[in-house]
Amino acid sequence: MTTVSLTINGRAVTAEAEPRMHLADFIRETQTLTGTHLGCEHGVCGACTVLVDGVPVRSCITYAVACSGASVTTVEGLDDDEIGKELRAAFTREHALQCGYCTPGMLMSARDLVVRAPDADEHAIRVAMSGNLCRCTGYVGIVRAIQSVIADRRARGIAAVPGAGRTALGPAGSGHGEAIAARVAAPAVTAAVVSREPAAVSESLADWQPQTRFARSFVVNHAVDAVWDFFADTGAVAVCLPGASVSGDTSARNVAGKMRIKVGPITAEFHGAAEIDRDPLTKSGTIQGSGRDRRSSSATRGVIRYRLLPQGDGATEVELDVGYRLTGPLAQFSRSDLVNDIASRLIAAFAQNVEARLSGTAATAPAAELNAGRLFFSVLAERIKTRLSHLFGRRDG
Ligand code: FES
Ligand code: FES
Repeated sequence: MTTVSLTINGRAVTAEAEPRMHLADFIRETQTLTGTHLGCEHGVCGACTVLVDGVPVRSCITYAVACSGASVTTVEGLDDDEIGKELRAAFTREHALQCGYCTPGMLMSARDLVVRAPDADEHAIRVAMSGNLCRCTGYVGIVRAIQSVIADRRARGIAAVPGAGRTALGPAGSGHGEAIAARVAAPAVTAAVVSREPAAVSESLADWQPQTRFARSFVVNHAVDAVWDFFADTGAVAVCLPGASVSGDTSARNVAGKMRIKVGPITAEFHGAAEIDRDPLTKSGTIQGSGRDRRSSSATRGVIRYRLLPQGDGATEVELDVGYRLTGPLAQFSRSDLVNDIASRLIAAFAQNVEARLSGTAATAPAAELNAGRLFFSVLAERIKTRLSHLFGRRDG
């Protein structure tokens, strides 16, 4: 047994827990706070959602011991919360529940959305809430209730708080996880990846807005024509991206493929198709794709644009603009701060693989899946290390 001390709904709590006990059981069994419901216990349905340090997390896949020192808010903690009250009134008014089993998780996720959503766009609300499943009442009333609370608050001059005001990121309880940081070594990122402003959305894609966008560039030590020819072979390019693979004629305009992603206990395999356009004059191209993972009922649609720019020393700069929309249980993987960090690491791995393939030194087999969870922890470990070095640096000074 391990002693876990944390704050729940503003109250300091200490209790014994098995290392394997998840946070939902800890909350329900040691504190008798039974408002947090358990549906699937696999991180899929969202019924168990609570806030850990202000961030919605699935308490069924979060170890209680990982939350030592954290501040946890359950649905009971929203009793006197202004947004909680507004949401409850709206759920009642809009008939947004029937059996009510999903409602605690819905309220926790909705509260987060009400704080950070700039406006009451119905589609954006549906996407943001797609990780919370309701088995009986349907989503019309739920979406309408959330929409009305956001609209009402914006009309009253209460502005959205970008990212809900978070300054720290990482998995639940991670802000207190120095021990985790010490155990997990961040992989070396040797390729220089630079953040850029995303380019303007092209006319043909103007009717589709990605939920998440990022832009990066990197340099490979090969002439632009060699890189251009390499990018013509979608199969070779896919091999450089951890978890991606394509099948059939990999030089065709339309290719079929799949992407394996692992986030915590969820392994998703997105099967889909992509359409590829290339412009030899500008050495640029667009890859538009969509895919679906049957097991987690998650779906994605994305666009990657690239442009090759010759450098004076015979090298080539590769500019990438990536935009995507993710729905379903994996939609939480779209949170912007996290995506930005993970994108840099993913593209650094891609850049290294492209460089190795072009140099004929690619000895290792492609990664079978993109382990987003591992990237999560490596991002976290690096951030904590940076913070600690700043702290000790100040003390030394
Ligand atoms: S019970 Fe946690 S996501 Fe379903
Ligand atoms: S109201 Fe019954 S599961 Fe949502």
